[in-house]
Amino acid sequence: MAEKILVTGGAGYVGSVCVALLREKDYEVVIYDNLSAGHREAVTGGAKLEVGDLADRARLTEVFATHTPDFVMHFAASCLVGESYHDPILYYRNNVANAANLVDVMIEHDVRAIIFSSSCAVYGEPVRVPMTEDDPKNPINPYGKTKLTFEHLLEDCDAAHGLKSVALRYFNAAGATDELGEDHDPETHLIPIVLKVPLGLLDGVEVFGDDYPTPDGTCVRDYVHVSDLAAAHESALGILRQGKSERINLGNGNGFSVLDVIRASEHVTGKNIPSKVSPRRRGDPAALVAGAGKAADVLGWQPSYTSLETIIETAWKWHKEHPHGYRD
Ligand SMILES: NC(=O)c1ccc[n+]([C@@H]2O[C@H](COP(=O)([O-])OP(=O)(O)OC[C@H]3O[C@@H](n4cnc5c(N)ncnc54)[C@H](O)[C@@H]3O)[C@@H](O)[C@H]2O)c1
Repeated sequence: MAEKILVTGGAGYVGSVCVALLREKDYEVVIYDNLSAGHREAVTGGAKLEVGDLADRARLTEVFATHTPDFVMHFAASCLVGESYHDPILYYRNNVANAANLVDVMIEHDVRAIIFSSSCAVYGEPVRVPMTEDDPKNPINPYGKTKLTFEHLLEDCDAAHGLKSVALRYFNAAGATDELGEDHDPETHLIPIVLKVPLGLLDGVEVFGDDYPTPDGTCVRDYVHVSDLAAAHESALGILRQGKSERINLGNGNGFSVLDVIRASEHVTGKNIPSKVSPRRRGDPAALVAGAGKAADVLGWQPSYTSLETIIETAWKWHKEHPHGYRD
């Protein structure tokens, strides 16, 4: 019988691509999403959508009792770093308290295996680049703190209740599949913002700081394709089946600067993309690049999209077809 996976946040960007892959591989999939940032149109492949909020324990209980999942993949979260500075309570409530409801209901229903969408934000300012899993974790924004707190909660529930967890610490998710792409409101991620210029939706790109200690002075990030993230989730199920818990970085292991992204986007789209430099933003480390060795060793995972241009090409194809996101 096919394994059944409950996917919280499965109507969002990364979750929807993961759901599509799981359905291709014949897993049964139930999505739990309040559609606060997700899209009904992003639910594909015959996955079942249960609309509900993680805050709603009774609804969660009903969904677990109805569907009796084997595993949980937990994508649902509040995920805007800037907003987390202004409204930390929202972040602790959603990413910790609401997520604790999920774990509580899981244990109640004897579901003891979860894959959690963690983030490179748990490390804060890196002590070295590339960053490896055992490096110090000193998150510098409330968003990153909530992700780390939930990792701690999972570790404590492993000790107390035998709950096995794989926390996948994504670097910058990027790119699209033919059907599924990035549609956040507000959009804060660099590639979709840059692509708004050739789409005629923005006049230019704001570059926050050009005096970082990086080769061109702009921030360096590690872009990992959303389909590669989805593949890593499927591989991570293998760790849970062995009854193990792990924390694993998911990145390409290569850093690209903001200016690299702009130049590559000009090349992909054939359009000029003007930019202007603004002051640095609070809490932006100079460079975040994954040491991706553990993902290769433990998951047997290698990203298939290693070129920045190819990642941007996939995003450009989707955004050209959906200039206003799923509303199109
Ligand atoms: N996108 C990235 O670059 C990135 C990087 C690191 C980590 N992550 C993490 O990956 C996960 C997915 O990110 P994304 O970019 O797909 O985000 P997203 O906003 O597109 O998706 C999140 C989904 O969760 C749902 N949701 C939020 N709160 C909920 C609640 N209380 N109850 C039910 N549903 C709820 C939203 O409606 C949305 O569909 C998040 O946990 C995020 O922190 C993302």
